[in-house]
Amino acid sequence: MKTKVYYFDDKNINDEALDEAATVIRQGGTVIFPTETVYGLGANALDEKSVSRIFEAKGRPSDNPLIVHISNYDMLLYCIGEPLSEKAQKLMAFFWPGPLTIIFKKSKAIPGEVTAGLDTVAIRMPDDEIALSLIEKSGVPIAAPSANISGKPSPTAPEHVIADMDGKVDVILCSRSTRVGVESTVIDISEDTPVVLRPGGVTLEELSKVLGDVETDKGLEPGSIPKSPGMKYTHYAPKAPMAIIRGDEAKVRVKILELASKDRDRGLKVGILTVDEGKDSYPGYSVISIGSRRDSAEAAHNLFNALREFDKLAVDTIYAEAISEEYLGLAVMNRMKKAAGFNIIEV
Ligand code: TXA
Ligand code: MG
Repeated sequence: MKTKVYYFDDKNINDEALDEAATVIRQGGTVIFPTETVYGLGANALDEKSVSRIFEAKGRPSDNPLIVHISNYDMLLYCIGEPLSEKAQKLMAFFWPGPLTIIFKKSKAIPGEVTAGLDTVAIRMPDDEIALSLIEKSGVPIAAPSANISGKPSPTAPEHVIADMDGKVDVILCSRSTRVGVESTVIDISEDTPVVLRPGGVTLEELSKVLGDVETDKGLEPGSIPKSPGMKYTHYAPKAPMAIIRGDEAKVRVKILELASKDRDRGLKVGILTVDEGKDSYPGYSVISIGSRRDSAEAAHNLFNALREFDKLAVDTIYAEAISEEYLGLAVMNRMKKAAGFNIIEV
């Protein structure tokens, strides 16, 4: 398939390209577009045949439901099969447009292909001008997973999208690298206590301020079944095996140096994922920092690019320093654990 690629910059949104992309969506094709979290691979959420093209392009298992992206509240009401609860209205008022996906009962308008046969649908309003105008111009809600090949880190920059998806979709709309850098938070508010099914761009701390008590799905840790089907798949994985080292900062560094030097002696190329405060501690290794230990937003912004950089450096093994799970650190550590297949060494 020949993919048409358009590059936008902040001040110069190309209306003709957006019109063309919207026509492609209406006619059943696939369009990759930026959001504030990661790039999405979109198709008309109301049409099962269009949606099947998303799964094809990504190589995604069909039992993993998609998020439906909307640009206005009429679209929301069209997609859901329940009255809007007070909790939902509060969340929307505080966090939309933004990186929060809410689970609703689905309406008949949403085909089972979108929801993998569930009677619920995941919906969000993205905080990105290009995404919002694309949806508005298309006139239909857009189903879109992250625009990576299934299993790879989600794309946060145009070059990631091109590397994974050129030739597999009809149109790619590229802008800058995405602001948040990890995917949206997925929340289920159907029970008394809301449950975060996937930690993401809206933090647990922010949600608690608005909703009071919020739980995280116990299924997110290994050995249990997550409520959000997508969370069970290996994900975000760089090519090299990865281990996370967690504990006291100084001990973590000693442990990483010990493991790394053993691997180097065996002739392996070692990658180390660290923070600015640690990046000079590992001379001679392939070191990537995701920013200051004190700034979880910066870590979120940089994580997926760092994982892809290790592939480019062709390292044989990766050791990663754990960061604190406060604020966006919870989403960062969730993605890191999945990238490492939950291989965590406590020191
Ligand atoms: O930030 C994001 O959310 C990005 C951008 C493109 O919007 N999208 C994204 O989509 O990350 P995807 O498909 O990679 O992840 C969707 C997640 C999966 O974990 C999926 O299982 C969950 O949402 N999900 C979708 N529908 C659901 C439902 N009805 N119930 C529970 N979980 C659901
Ligand atoms: Mg994804």
